[in-house]
Amino acid sequence: MSRIAIEGGVPLNGTVRLSGSKNGSLPLLAASLLVDGEVVLHNIPHIRDIRTMIQMLRALGARAEFRDDAGLVIDSSSVNSVRAPYDLVRRMRGSFYVAGPLLARFGEAHVPLPGGCVIGSRPVDFHIKGFKALGAEVEEKHGAMHARAERLRGTRIYMDPRLRSVGATVNLMLTATMAEGTTVVENASREPEVVCCQQLLAACGADIQGIGTTTLTITGVERLHGVEWTAISDRMEAGTFLIAGALTRGEVTVEPVDAEHMAMVLDVLDQAGCDIRLGENAVTLRMDDRPNAVDVMTAPFPGYPTDLQPNTGVLMSIARGTSVIEETIFDARFNYVDELIRMGADVRVMDGAAIFKGVPQLSGAPVVATDIRAGAALILAGLVADGVTEISGGTLVDRGYEDITGKLSALGARIETAPEADLETSNGECLA
Ligand code: UD1
Repeated sequence: MSRIAIEGGVPLNGTVRLSGSKNGSLPLLAASLLVDGEVVLHNIPHIRDIRTMIQMLRALGARAEFRDDAGLVIDSSSVNSVRAPYDLVRRMRGSFYVAGPLLARFGEAHVPLPGGCVIGSRPVDFHIKGFKALGAEVEEKHGAMHARAERLRGTRIYMDPRLRSVGATVNLMLTATMAEGTTVVENASREPEVVCCQQLLAACGADIQGIGTTTLTITGVERLHGVEWTAISDRMEAGTFLIAGALTRGEVTVEPVDAEHMAMVLDVLDQAGCDIRLGENAVTLRMDDRPNAVDVMTAPFPGYPTDLQPNTGVLMSIARGTSVIEETIFDARFNYVDELIRMGADVRVMDGAAIFKGVPQLSGAPVVATDIRAGAALILAGLVADGVTEISGGTLVDRGYEDITGKLSALGARIETAPEADLETSNGECLA
């Protein structure tokens, strides 16, 4: 672990070249387990969660490697195990995505249950219910899910519309692509990351109707063939850098980005008083003043993304006026708030909502990051705070953001990473 140290107060200016989406890439890597042949993936970010998924594919017997200009090349023809190692599932819940493809292609999957998570309860019951509906026998024992099916059969899967699940949608559509007959998934997620995976599957020969909608009709095919595919840009990274520009009263352009993936976020930033310009494949944000207070509620796409809720909370912490942020997806996603309060924010959390009374200035402090998005939010808070902020566990952010410190430095931020051990002796002099 290392810490991140930031000296705040510098307006950020410039253009950020976005990386490929973490949440968009993970399903593509899992989907490659279904494919008979090579899958070549471009724009896959070099981040820890992707390295974990690559380790998972290799642990199952697949070949997966980054080839300089050729992208990430995966060949699953050598898969010889249906047992996912606990150590990898424990590190990243997204590794549960291998369950569906293993079951669909090899008739068996033994995958440890992911367990608790700092952002709230994250069960996998929808995934397991769907596997059973498709005809698998599923046993949950000794902390793992063991699913078996001689033959999966298409069926109707009705997902809870109140808790639309990205993970279950991905896992079940991956499974259904090779089941016998037709599966209809109702109330599917339609996050851009899910749609990117649907498009990859279709390009590999899967029969999926309703791409991008909440009703998917998938007719199983015998085999999927290799393909070359490009992951979408990371809209969470885009939102993070735009909010950084808004906080520091700078001017930041992010590219390449599909503004339609960001409509709700751009609307909130517009209400907050930011000047937003859409270019071809790019978004520019300029901000000259403190933000206006805006009420925000997280929701499945096209609603406001929960992954940007912590960053938005930081923006609201320095707004003119009071705003309410409601979190409807993960019950512990306000875990960054206590650290923000230590930096001078005036926030009260109650019943799935946080009330932010904007203060004119945050002040730098030593803080602790507990997850990727909380870490990103504390970096943003450090950028606008007065003095030095040291984020312990800050490199958790590396799980999801490619070179965030390098990209922020290029915009003018005074930010650096140092080993955690330095924390005991450091008082911020490294940035003096
Ligand atoms: C994915 C994203 C995560 C994002 C989240 C919501 C990845 C790797 N992660 O997580 O960054 O914050 O979507 O957009 O893409 N639920 C159940 N039972 C289940 C599955 C989910 O009750 O079997 C609940 C969850 O507890 C949560 C809600 O459904 O309240 C949505 O979760 P889900 O969309 O599945 O999140 P993830 O796929 O884990």
